[in-house]
Amino acid sequence: MQTTQLSHDRLLEERARYVSGGVSTPRLVVASAEGARVTDVDGRVFVDFAGGIGCQNTGHRFTPVVAAIHRQVDQYLHQCFMVGVYEPYVDTCRLLAELSPCAGAEQKSILVNSGAEANENAVKIARAATGRPAVVVFDNAFHGRTLLTMTMTSKVHPYKAGFGPFAPEVYRAPAPYPYRGVSSDDAIAGIEKLFKSEVDPRTVACVLLEPVQGEGGFVEMPPDFPARLVELCARYGILYVDDEVQSGVGRTGRMWAIEHYGGVEPDLLVSGKSLGGGLPLAGVTGRAELLDAVPPGGLGGTFGGNPLSCAAAVAVLEAVREPEFLAAATRLGETLRPRLEAVAASHPEIGEVRGLGPMLAFELAERSPDRAKAIVEAAFERGLLLLACGLYGNVIRLLPALTISDEELGEGLALLEEALTVAAR
Ligand SMILES: Cc1ncc(COP(=O)(O)O)c(C=O)c1O
Repeated sequence: MQTTQLSHDRLLEERARYVSGGVSTPRLVVASAEGARVTDVDGRVFVDFAGGIGCQNTGHRFTPVVAAIHRQVDQYLHQCFMVGVYEPYVDTCRLLAELSPCAGAEQKSILVNSGAEANENAVKIARAATGRPAVVVFDNAFHGRTLLTMTMTSKVHPYKAGFGPFAPEVYRAPAPYPYRGVSSDDAIAGIEKLFKSEVDPRTVACVLLEPVQGEGGFVEMPPDFPARLVELCARYGILYVDDEVQSGVGRTGRMWAIEHYGGVEPDLLVSGKSLGGGLPLAGVTGRAELLDAVPPGGLGGTFGGNPLSCAAAVAVLEAVREPEFLAAATRLGETLRPRLEAVAASHPEIGEVRGLGPMLAFELAERSPDRAKAIVEAAFERGLLLLACGLYGNVIRLLPALTISDEELGEGLALLEEALTVAAR
């Protein structure tokens, strides 16, 4: 059994020697993590505003998740749901049904390993249910890195360059982005034009939209847009797939971000990231007739919905659905936004603070990644883990644990402000 840990430098050397350069990694070498903090192998403690890219809404090693995983480890590990049915998988689907924002009384789910895989499955389900081939996606979308989902993703470097040819029958429409001058009206007009110039809407199976675009820069959809999109879809029998891989599981102060949009009911919901509480799990949820449109064997996979991930997900969903959890997340957003706005007021390089509830970010006015990189780097030097995003890499997003304490939040924001000041020099 391995009992010693390699030093920081040695591990980074071995990482360079043995791990593909195609995976981008920073200098952080993790030793442990708890709640809203990560400790590195040299004992440096970081305030974590990255959460493993939005996978720690309930915080690192959330006690009910760790307990559920321990219980499951002592019963059985992998089975494959196609070989033997097990309770944690069914329980996760039951909870997803109870919490689903989708249209239809009877809800079902399929569980898979990653957000990309879930989006692939959502498209398969939509195609099977409608008998149509085409898919409509938006500017600034991120749906994953597999062949179909990278085709649906809207950023050339590093996600698409050199990886073509891409999947056919994927069409892109403008997305609302008020800060950069694209309104809901512009976006709706863009889709209408797409239906005139590029694709017959009667061949479109589904549109995919993130209510708050994640990698695209935390661009929250204007209040009217999802409803107008759904109305347009309904006119042509197109399904609306709500990609909540990043915005879901409490990140915006509601279970799903779409719940902020006045009763809009997606046809399919795609969940992932924080769903597994730190273990890989993603899902597609929707009304039974859609999820049952694919014959047995058409969906699935060896590890999809593995027992450990599902045991963790049950603990996550039961915790996040509690009104107190969501109320605390909403309060976090109400605390964080004015504080970010105050930071922005003394940093003219910040063009906009935006987001939904506690899913917040700021965009630098300059459309270049350099300043954002310098801020992330300066934050790291000071003990804060931050992530940039956006088509131009000029957005800094905040993804702290929703359970972060006021003290840790204050510490993180003070470090962020220092980092901004250093990077501005
Ligand atoms: C909205 C959205 N969809 C899909 C994905 C892909 O998820 P995964 O990396 O688990 O494949 C992501 C990942 O960042 C995402 O933010």
